Amino acid sequence: MSGTSLDSIDACLLKIFDDLSFEIIESYSLEYPTETRKKLLQIANNNGNIQDVCFLNFVVGELFAKAANNLLKKSKKEAKDIDFISSHGQTIFHIPSELELGGIKTKSTLQIGDISVISYKTGITTVGDFRTKDIAAGGQGAPLVPFADKILFGTDKNRLIQNIGGISNVTVLSKECDIFAFDNGAGNMLIDYFTQKFFNLPYDKNGEIASTGKIDDVWLNSLLEEPYYSITPPKTTGRELFNSNYAENILKNAPTKREDIIATITALTAKTITDSYKKFILPKTSIDEIVLGGGGAYNKTLISYMKHFMPELIIKTHEDFGIPNKLKEAIAFAYLGYYTINKQTNNVPSCTGALSDVIMGKISY
Ligand SMILES: Nc1ncnc2c1ncn2[C@@H]1O[C@H](COP(=O)(O)OP(=O)(O)O)[C@@H](O)[C@H]1O
Ligand SMILES: [Mg+2]
Repeated sequence: MSGTSLDSIDACLLKIFDDLSFEIIESYSLEYPTETRKKLLQIANNNGNIQDVCFLNFVVGELFAKAANNLLKKSKKEAKDIDFISSHGQTIFHIPSELELGGIKTKSTLQIGDISVISYKTGITTVGDFRTKDIAAGGQGAPLVPFADKILFGTDKNRLIQNIGGISNVTVLSKECDIFAFDNGAGNMLIDYFTQKFFNLPYDKNGEIASTGKIDDVWLNSLLEEPYYSITPPKTTGRELFNSNYAENILKNAPTKREDIIATITALTAKTITDSYKKFILPKTSIDEIVLGGGGAYNKTLISYMKHFMPELIIKTHEDFGIPNKLKEAIAFAYLGYYTINKQTNNVPSCTGALSDVIMGKISY
């Protein structure tokens, strides 16, 4: 798995039992080389060309294969011990609303890191390219993780599974309504951008910088006017919206102190999450607890802001359920691939807006 943060390729060797419980055998993360990350960012910001995309599809495939092979080595296993690899690929573009050309209207998405490269370089059957089938079926091709959330958490409580990756997204698992999910807004993406720009650090570790700043309420309120936040779910977003142009544009009204910028942007992520609960979730179900995951679960200031904006929230993390925050999405895609291999449907139409249940994923033997 590698998400929109482009931080690392997270690989996890998982055993899935017949009752769908799991055991983590080993895990391994491979950071993108700086120049690869830079190029990926460039094309994800729509500043690349088709030659870049063509080439990077293979480069990323090789890196995913390398992550898998290093994981094998680390866990002292061989290719023949492994049933399959499930790979999300690297999203470089996602267009969740329909565009029209020559009478054809369609949504679209593009994940690169070719599965033929992964299967050849590892000698292991590889499943990948999940999102396209859901889009073919009229969905947004996202979010896909709710399928695994349902398996991992069940609905014994009214729970929100809140991932805070580059983008923040929530799955609603409740006895009071159908499963649904949506992207709340930017997660770490804007925090990362400003931390890199003003502090030359990859991210605000544990929210330490934000904790030394002050929230600028005027700027925060103006940022909350972004139309995405008031769209009714199902909805998904990505770097197509919250990209470097967006970041530079909002900076025009930012406070002068750089710590205050990080604090306010961190508050923005927290508030867009809690506001979305009030606007879109509480009208449908009560909330017993929320379960945080993704890298943002380690940002203490972000979590303290969430508590400030919604004091009644009971906040847990995936670790409370034996799932490392960092591996959650890798585990989710292992389950998706498991269903593909077993020829069973694995999308959740109530989350993606697809017209039917479909088996997502392609297989390279
Ligand atoms: N200790 C930490 N403190 C604060 N933020 C963190 C920490 N560790 C990771 N992150 C944030 O999480 C991001 C990566 O999260 P991840 O869940 O991998 O997102 P994605 O799925 O978009 O790759 C990093 O870019 C960083 O912003
Ligand atoms: Mg990541």
